[in-house]
Amino acid sequence: MGTEATRSRIERVPDGRAARPRASRRAGGAAARKEAGSLGCGRPRRGDGPMAGIRVRPAEPHDREDVTALHHREWGGPYVVVHDTRYDLRELPTLVAVDGAGRLAGALVHRLADDGLEVVSLAATSPGLGAGTALLVAAEAVAVAAGAARLWLVTTNDNLDALRFYQRRGLRIVAVDAGAVDRARELKPTIPWIGADDIPLRDELRLERRLTPGQASLASTPS
Ligand SMILES: CC(C)(COP(=O)(O)OP(=O)(O)OC[C@H]1O[C@@H](n2cnc3c(N)ncnc32)[C@H](O)[C@@H]1OP(=O)(O)O)[C@@H](O)C(=O)NCCC(=O)NCCS
Repeated sequence: MGTEATRSRIERVPDGRAARPRASRRAGGAAARKEAGSLGCGRPRRGDGPMAGIRVRPAEPHDREDVTALHHREWGGPYVVVHDTRYDLRELPTLVAVDGAGRLAGALVHRLADDGLEVVSLAATSPGLGAGTALLVAAEAVAVAAGAARLWLVTTNDNLDALRFYQRRGLRIVAVDAGAVDRARELKPTIPWIGADDIPLRDELRLERRLTPGQASLASTPS
């Protein structure tokens, strides 16, 4: 269980160290670039412009090493805990974004259940270059093809970058589970009390986009 973590900024530091400061995250930071090398991606840095030739496809066996490394970087391992549920990301359907050279740019793990598609994990190898948006658009297509009525996910109260990202792409906050991370902390005491941007890490927010016929797709947002 050492690599198990709840999904949040903090989950990237499962040993209880402080999260990276916001400015460092937005810039990618030296540590992130060093980690990029560990993925063997040679990823471009933020500021280099949109990632050229990005495309999304289902993960293939040869992606596993890079996807595993990305999940380890973001969540401390292959496990995430959301809405009191523990998922092994290796066991769920995964979409990958790759750049023009075929290098991993991001990964989205999802599950179809009930009437919706849940985005269990979304992570870009280097933020701000378009992979997250491309993956979200592709996930919506999967959801629509499966007849799902909604695309939804859970994030934590400190993840302001993600809240901005998702809301600008048409998802709405539909529920707040106050104390959800506190409950997870009872199961995993190494989850820190302070999250990104020095925000106390305590709650989960559920975001959702209804996939009603005639509604503009994610591909058309943000304007
Ligand atoms: C959130 C995340 C998936 C977005 O993917 P992305 O590839 O960076 O997104 P895109 O390049 O398509 O779009 C960039 C947008 O994300 C925002 N963004 C979110 N996090 C960002 C970050 N750390 N650095 C730069 N931009 C970020 C940008 O402001 C930009 O918003 P805008 O286009 O509305 O102005 C990605 O930043 C990431 O991997 N974050 C860490 C993992 C995480 O928190 N995942 C969500 C958990 S629920």
